[in-house]
Amino acid sequence: MKALFDQMQPSDSDWALAKSIDPERLPAHIAVIMDGNGRWANRRSLPRVAGHKAGIAPVRNSVESCARLGIEVLTLYAFSVENWKRPRHEVETLWRLLRIYIRREMPSLMRNNIRLAAIGRLSALPEMVQDELRDAVFATRNNTGLQVNLAINYGGRAELTDAINRMLKEGLTSIDEASVSDYLYTAGLPDPDLLIRTSGELRVSNFLLWQIAYAEIYVTETLWPDFNRTELLRAIVDYQKRDRRFGGLSPRREQLVEALPTR
Ligand code: FPP
Repeated sequence: MKALFDQMQPSDSDWALAKSIDPERLPAHIAVIMDGNGRWANRRSLPRVAGHKAGIAPVRNSVESCARLGIEVLTLYAFSVENWKRPRHEVETLWRLLRIYIRREMPSLMRNNIRLAAIGRLSALPEMVQDELRDAVFATRNNTGLQVNLAINYGGRAELTDAINRMLKEGLTSIDEASVSDYLYTAGLPDPDLLIRTSGELRVSNFLLWQIAYAEIYVTETLWPDFNRTELLRAIVDYQKRDRRFGGLSPRREQLVEALPTR
């Protein structure tokens, strides 16, 4: 978290919020469903693609803030397997924005020691997007700070189907939960601790279905283009207030149960 404070002044509006975060209990992995670009544009009587364009700045801010906070993994849902149903112009704009983002952000990714990865059925993407992604992933492969996963042409069911097909192809006859995780696109990464969804929708939308089994969900009414550092810090503060029991009892409740007379 030191890197975050290096960049802030005590007079910053976020200072007290950032100070209230316990650096020992940060979520290792934050996953974000970036929703509300279309509504943001609609409210301004702009075309939907203007909302996607306005969605780049919060991507940049969230990536940099997570890097400075010391988060291990940030996974951003940029394009789902279902998003192909959108008008061609919108889909093409998303590819263009993705390429612009990657090209513009390379210096910042390198400077902030960020490793870029892409998860999803990437072979269906336009060649130019695949090339750009491949180059960026290669260029950042030795960075050791935050890993940013861009989920592109991603679907949780598609991911599980791909994993099962690979297991069958490799002749596996018996599996356990750990081996399923090993065949997912996120193999080797911690599961998300915190899942953020913007724009107030209460859905998981086929995102990281296996991995979010125990994620804490934070939904904000804020539309993605308005999501800023304050919002990110608020989500983390809220996450740290949760009592994560993973199906068990919280330590306090365990003590209370143990203190009960056994009769
Ligand atoms: C959902 O909003 C958003 C998307 C489908 C695309 C997300 C893309 C970006 C944030 C921009 C580029 C991304 C990167 C990684 C550089 P929506 O259009 O479904 O909003 P609505 O529900 O209000 O219509």
